[in-house]
Amino acid sequence: MRRPQHALPALLLALCLPATAQEAETAKDLFMTHCAMCHGENGNGKGTTELDRPARSFLDGGFSYGNTEEAIRRTLTFGIPGTPMPAFDAALSEDQRTALARYVISLGPKGTVVRAGETEMVVGDRALIARGFLPPVVQDAPQQPRGALLGLPSGLSFEYRTDDVRLLAIRSGRFVDRRDWRGRGGDSLQPMGRIVELVGGGQPEAPWLIAEPTAGAQARPLGAAMRTSLMRGPMAGIGYELVQDGASRGFVMETVNHFAGEAGVGWRRTFTVKNGTPDRVLRFNGLDPIAGPLEAFETDLRPALDGHTDQLYAVQSWVVQKVETGVQVTVVRSFDFLMQGGAVPGPLGDIGFWVWPAERDVVVDVTRVTCRTWDETTKLQLMEDLSQ
Ligand code: HEC
Repeated sequence: MRRPQHALPALLLALCLPATAQEAETAKDLFMTHCAMCHGENGNGKGTTELDRPARSFLDGGFSYGNTEEAIRRTLTFGIPGTPMPAFDAALSEDQRTALARYVISLGPKGTVVRAGETEMVVGDRALIARGFLPPVVQDAPQQPRGALLGLPSGLSFEYRTDDVRLLAIRSGRFVDRRDWRGRGGDSLQPMGRIVELVGGGQPEAPWLIAEPTAGAQARPLGAAMRTSLMRGPMAGIGYELVQDGASRGFVMETVNHFAGEAGVGWRRTFTVKNGTPDRVLRFNGLDPIAGPLEAFETDLRPALDGHTDQLYAVQSWVVQKVETGVQVTVVRSFDFLMQGGAVPGPLGDIGFWVWPAERDVVVDVTRVTCRTWDETTKLQLMEDLSQ
C-alpha cells in the first residue's frame, strides 16, 4: 500500500521523481524505522540495539541466507530462527518487504546476486522433501548416511538421517542442491542452508527410549524405522516405527513447522505418538539437555480449555537458556489427560517428555524460540504468541 501524501509539495516532488527513486525513499524510511536499530543506519551492522551477535552488515554482500530479492523477502517475512532477526510479516506489507529487499541489495556491492542453479531445489509456498545421501553434517560425522531433508516455505529445513531416524540439524536459508547420482544408487543431497541448530554435535544419540513405569526404572534406547513422509501445505513430516529387538513398540508421526511470534521466531516439532506397549512408558530425549538454565517453570493450559478441568493434566513446560545469539526458550506442551494415560513432561528443566500407555494417540509439541532478551514483557508476549 502507498503511503498517503499529505502536503502538495511532497506530492509534486513525488510525481516528478522516477518510480524507483520514490520507492528507494520509502524503503529508506522503512529501513530507518524497522531495521536501523540493529543493522545500523547505513546498513553496516552497527545498530544501537545491543545484540550478543551483531546483525549483518549489508555493505559487503555475502549473505548467508541467500541474496536474491526472493530470498531476502523471505528472510523478512519469516525471520531467522536461532537468531534475534525478527519476522516482519505482520508489521510490514508484502510491497514494503519487497521494497526493503531491493533496498538491502542496493546497499551491497553490485552484481553479486546469486541465482538458483539447475540442480537446486527451491521451496515455494509448499513444503518439499528431498531424500538421498547426505554429506557428513559436520567433520567426523558418518559419511553418506541415507537422509531426508524437509524444506519449509520459511527457509527452514530439517535434516534427518533416515536409517535410524535421527534429526541431525536444523538449517535456515536455501534448501538443497541435488546432484544426480542415480547410476550409483541414489541422489546425493547437498543441503544449502546454514545450520542454526546442530543436534548432539552432529552425532545424536537415540531420541526415543523405553522404560517400565516404575520410579527409577532404567530407560533403554529404541531403534526406529522410517515408514512414511508427508507434505501438507507449508508443513512437512515423517512417520516412523519405534522398535526393540525386532518388535514394534510404537509409532510416531512427527511434523515440523516454522514458528513466528512477536517475541521471536523459531521452530515447532509436533509428535503424535501411539505407544504400542500396554506396560511400558516411552521417553523422548531427542533435544540436547540444557545445563544451568536461566529459568524453568510450568504454566497451566487448563484455563484455555474451558470446562473439564478436573482430570486434565495440560501444561506447558518452559526452559530458558542463554545462548550465543540471545535467549533460547524451549516449551514442551501437551493437552492430554493424565488419568487416561497421556503425556507427561519431565521434571522442571527437562526438555524431554514421557508418553504413558494410552488407547489413543498422544500429541506433544516442542517449540523453540530465540528472543533478544529475557524479561517479564518478553515472557508475557511469548505466552500470548504460543496461545495463538
Ligand atoms: C532485533 C534486531 C534486528 C532487527 C530489528 C532487524 N534485524 Fe535483520 N538481522 C538481525 C541479526 C542478528 C541478523 C543476523 C543473523 C545471523 O546471521 O546470525 C540479521 C540478518 C538479516 C538478514 C540476513 C542476512 C544474511 O546473511 O542472509 C537480512 C536480509 C536482514 N537481517 C534484513 C533486515 C531488515 C530489512 C530489517 C528491517 C525490516 C531487519 N533485518 C531488522 C537482527 C535484526
